[in-house]
Formats: sequence, C-alpha cells, structure tokens
Amino acid sequence: MNLVETEDREDPCYDTPAYRSTELRAPRRLYLLPEELHDPTGPVFGESDVGPLDSDLTRQHDGEPLGERIIVSGHVLDSVGRPIANTLVEVWQANAAGRYAHDVDRHPAPLDPNFTGAGRCLTGPDGEYRFVTVKPGAYPWQNHPNAWRPAHIHFSVFGRAFADRLVTQMYFPGDPLFDHDPIFQSVRDPKARELLISRFDLETTEPDWALAYRFDIVLRSTPFE
Ligand SMILES: [Fe+2]
Repeated sequence: MNLVETEDREDPCYDTPAYRSTELRAPRRLYLLPEELHDPTGPVFGESDVGPLDSDLTRQHDGEPLGERIIVSGHVLDSVGRPIANTLVEVWQANAAGRYAHDVDRHPAPLDPNFTGAGRCLTGPDGEYRFVTVKPGAYPWQNHPNAWRPAHIHFSVFGRAFADRLVTQMYFPGDPLFDHDPIFQSVRDPKARELLISRFDLETTEPDWALAYRFDIVLRSTPFE
C-alpha cells in the first residue's frame, strides 16, 4: 500500500460539539499512562486464546446470518510502512439490518439469531488480517433530529503494547450519509477522512460467494511514547 501524507497530522478534536457526547467524554488534559502499559509483554488477549472461528462472524452460530456476505482484509503497519505481525485486531458491528446485539440498542430493527457481530484475529507475518462477515446496515442515533450513522465496522488494534491501542471505524465507499455524520466529520482533513473508507477489493472477492473490501491501518507513535 502507499502511505498517504495528510495535511493535518493532528488527531480529531476530543471535544467536537456536533458530536454531542464528546462534551462529557473528552479529557480536559492528557494523562500519563502507567509504565507497565508500555510493556510489550503485557496481556492483551483476555482469558481465552484466539481461535479460527473468531475471525468468521458468519460461522459463530448454528445458521448463517442474513445479509450481504463480505470479506474485510488489510494490513496493520507502523508509521514507516513496516508490518506489525502477531498483533490483535478486534471488530464489532451492527447486523445487516443496522441492529447491535446489545441490551442498550433499542432500534426497532430485527435482531439476527445467527449474528453476534464481534470478531478478532491476529495479524500474520506481513501484518495481514482477514475477517468474513456481513455488511452492516446504517442505524439511527440520538445525536440530533433524524441522525443516522453511515454503515461502519468498529476496529480495535493493539500495536506492540497496550498503550499503542487504536480504536477506529471503517466505512464503505460512496455512503450518502458521510456528509451528515458528525463522527466522520470530526476528522477535519478530507484526506484523512478518505483513509477511514475501505476500498472495494475485486481481487479478494470470491466468485459466487462474497464481495470484498480492503482496509489498511497505520499506527503511529502516540504522544505518550
Ligand atoms: Fe457503531
């Protein structure tokens, strides 16, 4: 992949008024993380090992989930393009109808008994990862009147240590909701916003089975390092 230089290298503002809940969430100052969270030998996997079914969100129940089956893959790289191997990538998402399998999601769209919407995998030697899932639906949220989130998949990527962790969202090309979404627009540089959009990946598409999208992730040093 090509690393893209963006004009605005700053992170999005922590407090973005159009994204209302940032008013309460945004830290008022930076906090130093404890030294042990910078330790690359620290635990990141929780209580169980990562298994092969963890990365296939369509095979975690007795039946197959409804929706458009897709393959989402890419590479995790550091800021100079070197692969980050053997790092944990986690995803979570709404089902094809735009509903999360979560108690606080009251959106009146159907739950899918064959879809939980959570997956994880470890990157391979070249920093590559791969998930099989279904394309998530857009869903409404309470941020402002008639607010809808563009379809997206949440990503968490552990770099070489817990303190490197990045949590972000992957979007799909051509979504008409981009211009109306304060979360997407909280990234002010248009070139940086483009990097949040996966690209359709015909090469990875499997005939008669699944479309594919590619999403590469670059981790750069945090201010804490
Ligand atoms: Fe979401």
